[in-house]
Amino acid sequence: MVTTAMKHFHVSLCLLVLFLKALTRCTVTASEFQLEGDYLIGGLFNLHYVTSPIYYDRPEAFDCSSQPILIPNYRRFLIMRFSVEEINNSTTLLPNVSLGYEIFDHCSDTQNFPGIFKLISDNGSIQPWGQPQQQQLHRSNDSKVIGVIGPFTSTHTLTVAPLFMVDLTPVVSYGASISILSKNTNFPSFLRTVHPNKDVIEVIVNILLYFNWSWVAFLNSDDDFGIDGLELFLNRIKDTDICLGYTKALNDNTNYSQVFKQIEAQKINVIIAFAPKLTAEALIDSAIQLNITNKVWIADDGWSLNTKIHKMDGIKNIGTVLGVSQPLVTIPGFSDFIYSYKSQILYENAGQQKFCNQICNCSNLTAEYILSVDPSFSFAVYSAVYAVAYALHNVLQCGKGSCNNNMTVQPYMVLAELRKTNFTLLNQSIRFNENGDPEFGSYSIVFWNSGAVQEIGFYTFQSVNFFINTTNIQWHINKVPTSMCSPKCCEGYAKKPNGVQKCCFTCEICPNGTYINSTEDPFTCIHCKDTEWSEEGSTSCKLRVVEYIAFTDTGAILLIIGSCAFMGLTLAMSVLFAINYNTPVVRSAGGPMCFLILGCLTLCSVSVFFYFGKPTTSFCIMRLLPFTLFYTVGLACFVVRSFQIVCIFKITAKFPQLHSLWMKYHGQWWIIAGAFVIQTLLLLIGYCYGPPVPYDERFWYRDKIIVDCTINLKATAGPVIFLASLCSLCFIFSYMGKDLPKNYNEAKAITFCLLLLILTWIIFTTVYMLYRDRFIIIFNALAVLSSLYSFLLWYFLPKCYIIIFQPHKNTQQYFQGLIQNYTKTLSQ
Ligand SMILES: *[C@@H]1O[C@H](CO)[C@@H](O)[C@H](O)[C@H]1NC(C)=O
Ligand SMILES: *[C@@H]1O[C@H](CO)[C@@H](O)[C@H](O)[C@H]1NC(C)=O
Ligand SMILES: *[C@@H]1O[C@H](CO)[C@@H](O)[C@H](O)[C@H]1NC(C)=O
Ligand SMILES: *[C@@H]1O[C@H](CO)[C@@H](O)[C@H](O)[C@H]1NC(C)=O
Ligand SMILES: *[C@@H]1O[C@H](CO)[C@@H](O)[C@H](O)[C@H]1NC(C)=O
Ligand SMILES: *[C@@H]1O[C@H](CO)[C@@H](O)[C@H](O)[C@H]1NC(C)=O
Ligand SMILES: *[C@@H]1O[C@H](CO)[C@@H](O)[C@H](O)[C@H]1NC(C)=O
Ligand SMILES: *[C@@H]1O[C@H](CO)[C@@H](O)[C@H](O)[C@H]1NC(C)=O
Ligand SMILES: *[C@@H]1O[C@H](CO)[C@@H](O)[C@H](O)[C@H]1NC(C)=O
Ligand SMILES: *[C@@H]1O[C@H](CO)[C@@H](O)[C@H](O)[C@H]1NC(C)=O
Ligand SMILES: *[C@@H]1O[C@H](CO)[C@@H](O)[C@H](O)[C@H]1NC(C)=O
Ligand SMILES: *[C@@H]1O[C@H](CO)[C@@H](O)[C@H](O)[C@H]1NC(C)=O
Repeated sequence: MVTTAMKHFHVSLCLLVLFLKALTRCTVTASEFQLEGDYLIGGLFNLHYVTSPIYYDRPEAFDCSSQPILIPNYRRFLIMRFSVEEINNSTTLLPNVSLGYEIFDHCSDTQNFPGIFKLISDNGSIQPWGQPQQQQLHRSNDSKVIGVIGPFTSTHTLTVAPLFMVDLTPVVSYGASISILSKNTNFPSFLRTVHPNKDVIEVIVNILLYFNWSWVAFLNSDDDFGIDGLELFLNRIKDTDICLGYTKALNDNTNYSQVFKQIEAQKINVIIAFAPKLTAEALIDSAIQLNITNKVWIADDGWSLNTKIHKMDGIKNIGTVLGVSQPLVTIPGFSDFIYSYKSQILYENAGQQKFCNQICNCSNLTAEYILSVDPSFSFAVYSAVYAVAYALHNVLQCGKGSCNNNMTVQPYMVLAELRKTNFTLLNQSIRFNENGDPEFGSYSIVFWNSGAVQEIGFYTFQSVNFFINTTNIQWHINKVPTSMCSPKCCEGYAKKPNGVQKCCFTCEICPNGTYINSTEDPFTCIHCKDTEWSEEGSTSCKLRVVEYIAFTDTGAILLIIGSCAFMGLTLAMSVLFAINYNTPVVRSAGGPMCFLILGCLTLCSVSVFFYFGKPTTSFCIMRLLPFTLFYTVGLACFVVRSFQIVCIFKITAKFPQLHSLWMKYHGQWWIIAGAFVIQTLLLLIGYCYGPPVPYDERFWYRDKIIVDCTINLKATAGPVIFLASLCSLCFIFSYMGKDLPKNYNEAKAITFCLLLLILTWIIFTTVYMLYRDRFIIIFNALAVLSSLYSFLLWYFLPKCYIIIFQPHKNTQQYFQGLIQNYTKTLSQ
């Protein structure tokens, strides 16, 4: 009871002492935590850690030495002591000036203020804006510190740094990597020799990208450091293919079994553990206990060189551990320092009096053990102490062998020099950027082999350079593990998101007529242009082939020859008919009308030429105009012919007046002219209403564009109906005359020709409905030509045959005989 009360008293006293200016009572002479000197550097190291929060009912400072020790931090603490001694011994850096230190164990971020107050007090009182006094080089033992090394953790730094910012005392941290500390306005006298979290996250993301791990879990410690890391990670992966499948802030109450269950449920194979030593130890320990296997673990620099975890039983089963670590820098002389120091401490330690939190209880640690623990942050501590020393060196205007003794050194002067830091330490050029972040150093990428931690790559900042040599990595499976939510889509497939994560999707093939450019947008199939086409699952569009019938096409050549032959034949027949103009065959064929019909047919055949070549508006007009117009005239002639045949043999008998009127006024010519005028008018009206123009047929073939002429149904209806009615009329008349004398077979020939004509166009229309290729154009021309040939071959050719080969039938007597025979049969 008495001892507890005494202890409480002692601790409370420490807190009050500062304000009572009774510090001397707490100070000790020789301690690991103190070294006298002309100038003092403060140090804050968390040598112990608080396992559980402690509540007090009266004000008390916290006794750190009662808590468990953190050996790696003790090693860092020794590095500071070593560095100060080395500087004190140096004859070039701060010559003839002795440097001392005042170090406190900073194990709690709320209850460790006595030490901080001591560091900021001057001659026992806190006077942040006190008048700067003229001080001699060898000052009192309570001289104000010119700079502070530490604290280690981000949270500790956030709580204590503002106190030092008041009078711009430089705080050079060797471990606080949280982003906010880069903010110069909030922390004007803060600098650090450790890279901010952003840089570690950058390296981690580079590793993920290198191995194509896109589906990861991020486990961070539930403190300022871990939350900052998560935020930076989320920001960094925004524009990458990496997705965060699971995240959890780890603290003492975390249910690890649930965490791993959820990671398993999400099928995540890569776990990033962004946590300091203790959290990482708890995490990995639970992973081993819970038989978590086949995972890739990515360690941050807080535990990537942790020897305790590395030596855990069953660590091999958890999978592969990769880490981002600070490069291993051997500090020359340090191990000698430890060995020599550990050999003398044994008796020096006895019976020491100490200020609050200047007790370590580390005497049973052997030099070997200290040297074997996690060496991270050694260079950070070493360079921090040296930076402050160089700054002081510059403030004191030290030259060769001596410094300006006649100076009052204020912390802000040291800060100004620290900002300009530029010196070389162990081949590294130490500099800070304008935010007080280091402009030196690099990161190593390590692999946890069963024997040792192996360096497999590096990441440097000066010229951004990322390198990994994978040959030494032994994966827990036989190949590089994968981690993705959904397997990659094949080429030509679009991702269809499943939920909010961009990494989870199903693949859908892009339908025909669309394509996908995965580099630009892997989620949408883009429609091809009108002039392009694509198959299902395309990554680009192909140009459609523009098709029409060229003049050089075989079909075109044949049809043109056919058309020319037609013209030749008509000409030959015209000549033959002209020679035999007065024979009964020519007369019965229509006499002068024959020449009109043959002329019209020739003009019609001109149309055929315009079906070939790339169509233009005039071509489109010329395809239809000559044929429609002159075929009308030709048909009108046949109407008249067949009418006359019927008239001669049937109507004459019943209406003789009509016949005489017809003969008197040359009725046939009037009708033909009338038909011509009507058709001309109809065509004119039709073309004004909707002239045929070339158009691109895209509908029938996805890979082709067929250039054809439009057929405006309304505009062409008039001429076509007129043509069709003439045709029907002709058919009716000729059909009426079908039972005329056997050899006097004009009417039969016309009927046959008309049947052929109708058949041709019915076939053409049917094919046109079903099938659209460029050959439909040839087919169209063929239909035109065959309509022409049908009259030539079945109407005119038999007559030519009779004229040439059967002249005996081409006599008046023969015809008379036929008619007599017919009238006989009629009268019977
Ligand atoms: C400093 O010098 C002393 C003696 O001159 C020596 O014992 C000690 O090891 C030196 N310390 C360092 C860190 O160099
Ligand atoms: C510090 O350096 C001075 C000389 O520069 C030396 O006399 C003194 O012993 C050194 N102190 C320690 C602790 O090494
Ligand atoms: C330090 O404080 C003591 C009394 O607390 C005072 O006598 C002394 O003059 C002070 N020294 C300086 C340098 O201010
Ligand atoms: C400073 O420390 C020395 C040696 O430890 C001691 O003799 C001296 O009295 C101290 N000075 C003050 C002002 O406390
Ligand atoms: C882990 O595996 C060991 C042996 O394979 C087994 O004894 C233990 O129960 C397992 N633990 C869990 C949590 O599954
Ligand atoms: C040192 O002693 C403490 C107890 O005082 C003990 O817990 C610790 O394991 C010892 N360390 C070594 C390295 O022996
Ligand atoms: C070192 O300092 C002492 C006392 O301040 C002085 O006597 C000595 O001459 C100085 N030595 C050098 C080399 O400047
Ligand atoms: C030191 O400063 C004082 C007062 O400012 C001055 O009188 C003295 O000459 C200076 N000494 C040197 C060596 O500069
Ligand atoms: C740092 O110092 C070196 C030589 O000491 C010099 O070449 C270099 O320019 C300096 N860098 C800066 C940024 O001042
Ligand atoms: C990677 O490491 C292996 C084994 O250490 C070595 O043989 C190889 O040359 C290295 N490759 C590169 C590119 O450095
Ligand atoms: C294109 O896709 C549509 C819809 O899936 C289908 O109906 C059509 O037949 C396809 N066309 C071709 C040419 O494959
Ligand atoms: C995809 O889009 C990118 C960026 O616009 C472009 O550079 C690339 O050529 C495109 N790829 C294909 C196959 O069109």
